[in-house]
Amino acid sequence: MRHITRDVVYKNLWNSNLVEEVKKLFDEKASEWSTTRNIPSRGIPVLDALERGEVYGEKVVDLGAGTGLATQLLVNKFESVVALDISKEMIKNSVTPETPQVCADGCCLPFASNSIDVFLVMNMILFPNEIERCLKDEGFLVWVSSRGPETPIYLPPEEVIDLMSANSEVSWFGVSAYALEGSWLVARRSITT
Ligand SMILES: C[S@@+](CC[C@H](N)C(=O)[O-])C[C@H]1O[C@@H](n2cnc3c(N)ncnc32)[C@H](O)[C@@H]1O
Repeated sequence: MRHITRDVVYKNLWNSNLVEEVKKLFDEKASEWSTTRNIPSRGIPVLDALERGEVYGEKVVDLGAGTGLATQLLVNKFESVVALDISKEMIKNSVTPETPQVCADGCCLPFASNSIDVFLVMNMILFPNEIERCLKDEGFLVWVSSRGPETPIYLPPEEVIDLMSANSEVSWFGVSAYALEGSWLVARRSITT
């Protein structure tokens, strides 16, 4: 996944073969995903990012939500939360079945432009163009790596900022930190009023 993560953002290599490979990989992991990962410490970087990153808004999307382990934290804090994942099996095994679930590919999001306040992208491939398109002008990208640089799907915060800026008309900035073994980045556009 480490190579795929980098190839997608730097070589634009997201194609039908990769889509099928990634779907299959996560479909197969879905039934045991929550059993092995539903531990309180895994949510700490998410909660820390939301609090210390001063994230606010109404419409929130958990992108690459898996079985919704982070979604369950978001629903306690935001009015409208959607969990999106490419793997049907992940969605079937969701721990938050009452939250709206969308099965879609992060490369082409089923949301209107300029409509989302917050994207949580936790241990998930980054699709800068689509986040840039769908996020409101003053929206937040929350990038969480639950095992810091050891996370299989990982990009350092500074690279995420550079990638978002490269796909935007304005530059992005952010604040990042470690929380337990996880790391997080809360990023926004630099918009001067
Ligand atoms: C490593 S898991 C992380 C799941 C969850 N965020 C967590 O931390 O528990 C990555 C998730 O992203 C999903 N995913 C991978 N590529 C995707 C894409 N292009 N669009 C939407 N979801 C994707 C996978 O199906 C998988 O559920």
